[in-house]
Amino acid sequence: MEKLRRGDRVGLLTSGGDAPGMNAALRAAAKVGAALGLEVVGVEEGYRGLIDGRIRPLDGRALDDAARRGGTLLGTARSKLFATAEGQARAKQSIAEARLAGLIVLGGNGSLTGARALASAQTWDGRPLGVAGIPASIDNDLGCTSMAIGVDTAMNTILEACDRIADTALAHQRVFIIEVMGRDCGYLAMTSGIASGADAVLFREGGKSDGEIVEQVMRAVEAAFARPEGRRHVVVIKSEGVRYDSAALKQAVEARMAGRFPEVDVRVTVLGHVVRGGAPTAFDRLLGSRLANVAVRALADGETQVMAGWAIPGQTHPPSRYDPHVSLWPLEVVLAETEKLATGASELVRWRVKALGEAEPVLYL
Ligand code: F6P
Repeated sequence: MEKLRRGDRVGLLTSGGDAPGMNAALRAAAKVGAALGLEVVGVEEGYRGLIDGRIRPLDGRALDDAARRGGTLLGTARSKLFATAEGQARAKQSIAEARLAGLIVLGGNGSLTGARALASAQTWDGRPLGVAGIPASIDNDLGCTSMAIGVDTAMNTILEACDRIADTALAHQRVFIIEVMGRDCGYLAMTSGIASGADAVLFREGGKSDGEIVEQVMRAVEAAFARPEGRRHVVVIKSEGVRYDSAALKQAVEARMAGRFPEVDVRVTVLGHVVRGGAPTAFDRLLGSRLANVAVRALADGETQVMAGWAIPGQTHPPSRYDPHVSLWPLEVVLAETEKLATGASELVRWRVKALGEAEPVLYL
């Protein structure tokens, strides 16, 4: 694709689940774009707003303030209409009417799939639309990036919650099952399990049956309560991707404990959307800023249908020329890798499970 011209208009769009650090990325994209002579504008509420043509100028001071906060200043949505041919045709029309020459999409799997659907979009003057993606999803379930925006903040939020719950669990000598977000990806459960020193971690990639999961929890219960020198409390972190309902798991564990540990209660805490909000960590602000910097520069230099991904240890794909930690990957490749992560066919999933087993054998055995 030819390079963008000075004065060309580039839209920023956040879509799907919001992620802390999105605002920092928006701020950086606006600043870098301005420095390159581009006019950077915001699309409201993701693809829904794009379909409706809700595209507006960005306020630098509002972006400065928002960069410290979670959520997304632009708003977000999971647009069902955009998944249809009619929705995509209307979005392409809005792109031409708003005179966009480029679009940067921040989001997860669904959002980047949407970005790919705009491959054939054209500008008002007949040029191909430049499209770049930035990985933003607390789930860390995207291919071609070792971290997505929001993951680090979510991990820290879970860690804080686990530490708090461990205090009360110990005070009452209880078993706690803490359910964390992550959709089908166990990354948040695994990493926060290690960081918080939990007693067991349950994640979909483990492939365990309901019965095996109960056994795993019971081993932690036995280790904690069967001997006086045990921990006297149990914290189990369960990824929401595990299909075994947390209330049903609680019942099954209670049934096994009955008679043997009559004084020990089991409680369930579902952290839910608490995990997705809050001020972004320093890492997420930096990650957002650096990925945005590369996405804007790549677009300006004529790249399209690419995602800026954070370095993966051992990757053979070259770094971008703008930042040694950030590579540019074709969206096609990103989506194929993401699919492999979801089905468990990815080498990365196998490595994550193995690394967890080696770092904390008791956690997942
Ligand atoms: O993808 C981010 C995420 O927070 C997942 O962890 C979770 O399963 C989902 O979004 C929840 O989506 P919603 O906010 O639409 O309920």
